[in-house]
Amino acid sequence: GAAELGPYRHYMQKEIFEQPRVVGDTLEGVTGIMPELFGDQAFRVFKEIDRVLILACGTSYYAGLTAKYWIESVAKLPVNVEIASEYRYRDSVPHPSTLVVTISQSGETADTLAALKHARSLGMTNTLTICNVSTSAMVRECKLAYITRAGVEVGVASTKAFTTQLAALFLLTLTLAQVNGRLTDEQEAHYLKQMRHLPVALSSVLALEPQVIAWAEEFARKENALFLGRGIHYPIALEGALKLKEISYIHAEAYPAGELKHGPLALVTEEMPVVTIAPNDALLEKLKSNMQEVRARGGQLYVFADVDTHITSGEGLHVIRLPEHYGLLSPILHVAALQLLAYHTALARGTDVDKPRNLAKSVTVE
Ligand code: G6P
Repeated sequence: GAAELGPYRHYMQKEIFEQPRVVGDTLEGVTGIMPELFGDQAFRVFKEIDRVLILACGTSYYAGLTAKYWIESVAKLPVNVEIASEYRYRDSVPHPSTLVVTISQSGETADTLAALKHARSLGMTNTLTICNVSTSAMVRECKLAYITRAGVEVGVASTKAFTTQLAALFLLTLTLAQVNGRLTDEQEAHYLKQMRHLPVALSSVLALEPQVIAWAEEFARKENALFLGRGIHYPIALEGALKLKEISYIHAEAYPAGELKHGPLALVTEEMPVVTIAPNDALLEKLKSNMQEVRARGGQLYVFADVDTHITSGEGLHVIRLPEHYGLLSPILHVAALQLLAYHTALARGTDVDKPRNLAKSVTVE
């Protein structure tokens, strides 16, 4: 009801703004990295496994893609991420020493549950879920679990569930690294500090809302948009494009920026807004030359740029500056900005933001 919405116009907006609190809640009580955070048997299981298979759908699948970058770079374990509805209908090569990780807000998605059972039937019995509902089928079916504390998510388009999944997956990354002897005390202290600061960092991104609203007015008049990200922000570009599609019905695609020249550049005209995620990381210079390719074709760049990237507004180049660069956890901040862009674009187009046409919050049939 209206009372529950407080100052917000839609549940989606309310849920976007709840993120600082629920990400904090999800990490609450984590004062050190220890396998037991994931369940009593976690230490034994984590010792046994030497690879990870992530199964999920929709937004949860993009959380999995982000986790692949984290786990491979920090814990040095190979990771496969599979769309649940595809995984169970193809022949894959199972390996008994796999940690199977399902990611699900509801814990009831039929495809993800079936994929989990498929993995088990192939002999992979070490299972863990990152799930937002402690009483769900997914939690009952998995040996290990980490319960995100996003609270009830009403908006069909997932927002706060996603960022809490990322927080939990980063915790999993650090835990796997520790069990593998790849996490120094200094690193542990550094990452824990960064995680504790996430609510504050997220709040300062959400404070950019007025600038995002100005962009959304422009976006509302478009029928297509391209999202670019590189490395760990490519999955975030995918999620940004998905959010825009789901609620504003604008056709959006995401590409890793280096792949532009292999196709999507042909679509770029003055009519094409190109949303670019520009973290201040090792790929920044590469990304800048990708941006130049777009500008040279008259494309309109809308760039979310971290401080000190030296990307400034100009002809065909619009910039919103994120207040700090957040290292490996940067995807959690950048996605919040993209959620706001999708929300305000949909608002400007007058769509049914919380209940987009043809979509359901939880898909419990195949
Ligand atoms: C539906 C929802 C999405 C969600 C997906 C997976 O498609 O509309 O927002 O990402 O299901 O749901 P799950 O509950 O398994 O995370």
